[in-house]
Amino acid sequence: MATTITLTGAGGQIGYALLFRIAAGDLFGPEEHVRLRLLEIPQGLKGAEGAALELQDAAFPLLDDVEVTDDAAVGFSGANHALLVGARPRGPGMERADLLAANAGIFGPQGAAIAASAANDVRVSVVGNPANTNALIASASADGVPSDRFSALTRLDENRARAQLAATLGAPVADIRRVPIWGNHSASQFPDIAHATVDGRPVAAELAERVGDVRTWLADTFIPRVATRGAEIIEVRGSSSVASAASATIDHVRDWARGTDDWTSAAIVSRGEYGVPEGLVCSFPVRSVDGHWQVVEGLDVDDWSRARIDASVAELSDERDAVRALGML
Ligand code: NAD
Ligand code: LMR
Repeated sequence: MATTITLTGAGGQIGYALLFRIAAGDLFGPEEHVRLRLLEIPQGLKGAEGAALELQDAAFPLLDDVEVTDDAAVGFSGANHALLVGARPRGPGMERADLLAANAGIFGPQGAAIAASAANDVRVSVVGNPANTNALIASASADGVPSDRFSALTRLDENRARAQLAATLGAPVADIRRVPIWGNHSASQFPDIAHATVDGRPVAAELAERVGDVRTWLADTFIPRVATRGAEIIEVRGSSSVASAASATIDHVRDWARGTDDWTSAAIVSRGEYGVPEGLVCSFPVRSVDGHWQVVEGLDVDDWSRARIDASVAELSDERDAVRALGML
């Protein structure tokens, strides 16, 4: 049995970077066959069709089938995983929330199409920005699909945070663990090092030897560096992140499907954990167990961290109010 993966925006930049990694087996390993459904809008079909030709030419042993369509009912049919990437990216000088009006209208109909035609075990990973609120819209529109089947990507932020810590400490990135992202995939996000370790030792103590006052370094250097990295990429490349976003998407979907041996980050529908209002799609420290994200509960959150989490959660509430005002919730 092959796993069916639907990718929206398959003719775009991230789509092109993702498809070949999925077909090569990077999501589910060398034993599991995959079927790809590439969903585009009419203007994007040629890009997706071209990618499909190249997928054929690559002769991936695990790739059973590729179908290109602009019909959501066909595209999500039988999907076990839906990767919602198709959406406009921001340009220089924009915040991701500026995309709300342009992109929010995509996710309601896609949520409804998922409810109508995806497999019973469908899991939906939202990448298109603003990712948290788009996931909220998709989930709210997917009657009958449990809300815990929807999550949005904050893994790119976590990967960025771990990479910045590794560079600062002169340590291998694989040795840096437990650096969750809280809140929104936006400049208000809170990358949290309170429980982070490097090769099993607390990061905070090691940082003190390198950067002096750790709180000052976190507030003035580390947090803004991670939280505005997307804008930095746009400024340097001229367009938003692609390969790193695709790689983080692979990390996210693989961990959701196969489980984690430690914490990671994902934006999921809040059930009130850590005082985050129920229903908001908020990033938390999570584990993946038996195909379900579970919030890591019981962590001490001091006032300094609480203020940052609250600020990002307030932005998520504002985004929800904005899409309600647009009639999309
Ligand atoms: P892109 O413009 O290269 O590709 C987007 C593709 O989506 C296009 O081919 C377009 O035709 C297609 N599309 C638009 N509406 C669609 C719809 N209703 N159904 C199916 N396809 C549709 O953009 P990109 O660089 O691939 O980025 C895609 C999105 O991912 C953007 O919103 C970007 O901001 C976001 N992004 C998120 C993260 C993250 O960490 N969450 C990281 C990077 C980029
Ligand atoms: C990123 O974090 O790189 C993406 O969300 C793209 C962007 O607009 O920053």
